[in-house]
Amino acid sequence: MENTAPLKGIKVVDFTEVQSGPSCTQMLAWLGADVIKIERPGVGDATRKELQFNPDLPSYYFLQLNSDKKSLSLDAKTADGKAILTKLIKECDIFVENLHPGAMDKLGFGWEEVHKLNPKCIYGTIKGFPLSSKYKDLKAYEPIAQVTAAAATTTGWFEGPDNIPTQSGAALGDSNTGMHLLIGLLAALQQRNNTGEGCYVYQSMHNACLNLCRIKTRDQLTLDKIGYLTQYPQYPDQKFGKTVPRSGNIEGGGVLGWTYKCKPAGDMDTAEEGNNYVYVILQRGAKDFEAACKAMGFEDWLTNPDFNTADARDRHKQAIYKRIGEWTADKTKYEVTEILGKAGVPVGPVVSTQELMADESLYDGNTLVKINQGGEIGEFVTVGCPFTMSNYQPEYGPAPELGGNTEEILTSLGYSAEEQAEFAKNGTTKPVMVDGKKEM
Ligand SMILES: CC(C)(COP(=O)(O)OP(=O)(O)OC[C@H]1O[C@@H](n2cnc3c(N)ncnc32)[C@H](O)[C@@H]1OP(=O)(O)O)[C@@H](O)C(=O)NCCC(=O)NCCS
Repeated sequence: MENTAPLKGIKVVDFTEVQSGPSCTQMLAWLGADVIKIERPGVGDATRKELQFNPDLPSYYFLQLNSDKKSLSLDAKTADGKAILTKLIKECDIFVENLHPGAMDKLGFGWEEVHKLNPKCIYGTIKGFPLSSKYKDLKAYEPIAQVTAAAATTTGWFEGPDNIPTQSGAALGDSNTGMHLLIGLLAALQQRNNTGEGCYVYQSMHNACLNLCRIKTRDQLTLDKIGYLTQYPQYPDQKFGKTVPRSGNIEGGGVLGWTYKCKPAGDMDTAEEGNNYVYVILQRGAKDFEAACKAMGFEDWLTNPDFNTADARDRHKQAIYKRIGEWTADKTKYEVTEILGKAGVPVGPVVSTQELMADESLYDGNTLVKINQGGEIGEFVTVGCPFTMSNYQPEYGPAPELGGNTEEILTSLGYSAEEQAEFAKNGTTKPVMVDGKKEM
């Protein structure tokens, strides 16, 4: 069968770790690129030993982000390590890194050096902040991106003791940044077809997170102009402050949405787990509203001026929340979804991770996938490539052992067995041992 992998023949030197960078290079690998992950001898990607389910095995965290890569154990601080990395860079198409600000320059492999070594190489970088930011030299993890991009101040509850800036459970700063960098790298590859030269793609976690907070800046502009926001529960009865409030469970756009309590469905949807909710949206159009009213038996709303226009509904949203909540209370979230879904009302059950991963319909080859890691780990579930292509199906292979491809890669670079033995001895590819212990 023809190999239609979009990135067939593209070589990637992957100097990334944790989540943001590895999520990007994993996509490159799934799209068919040859990805060589550089890992410190004896240490490796920090996630190998974070949140392990067994202290002797790599964590699911690592396994879920490093599928289909090769691992080269290499200390880029030794002279031999630098020489090996230089050789790899000279023949690669993309170099990606996400070390702390300044670290790559210190190692001698910043953008300018790499560009001199191989002008065709595209250089992708992830840092916490844009270069213009006063925080550009800070190290960054997920929450730092969320709190500095106004994601946290606009997320969470808007009243009571839970009214504190809140993080999203979704990785807006980590995997989302990896996906943003991926867009930049794919654009740079296409650009290189025209210019013949690789460029520098700089992606900050801040910018990736902020890109998803665009609608919050829309709300700030509107608030500045008129002093209120019709889609928020505070409208029309309560006062707005000067900044966009935490949004609770509003839909966020112009349509009226809320989360409603349901009867537990049993099995995985127990009262104890507390996820017995459904999300229901009332669209603004008259026909859509009529369909929703008929499905719930609220035909009286169709002639009531407090409810029969979208603007009136915005003003009476508390009464709407109350009545729909009473209607959903004696139904399960799946029953509500069935009734309203049939009527064309936008609706969805609030699904737990357990329910999600038990949903067989999602094992369609891409949505949720099972990777066979082999050995003691065997099969594990992960999230696949989030889009499908009509003529290409990624294969989902195991993650590499630390340094598992070192010999193969060094041999392909032309290093003899003797040279490789010397690299292992001098700490370039294996940890230096002092008195039988690994020197860190
Ligand atoms: C994630 C982060 C906070 C971790 O910081 P850190 O604990 O200092 O770890 P780093 O991996 O960046 O660097 C540690 C050291 O290991 C070195 N190192 C890493 N891989 C190496 C290798 N293969 N060979 C030799 N040295 C290596 C680095 O050069 C650095 O040395 P230095 O401190 O002397 O400069 C930081 O890398 C960062 O802010 N990255 C950018 C944002 C980002 O992607 N965050 C992660 C989101 S999931």
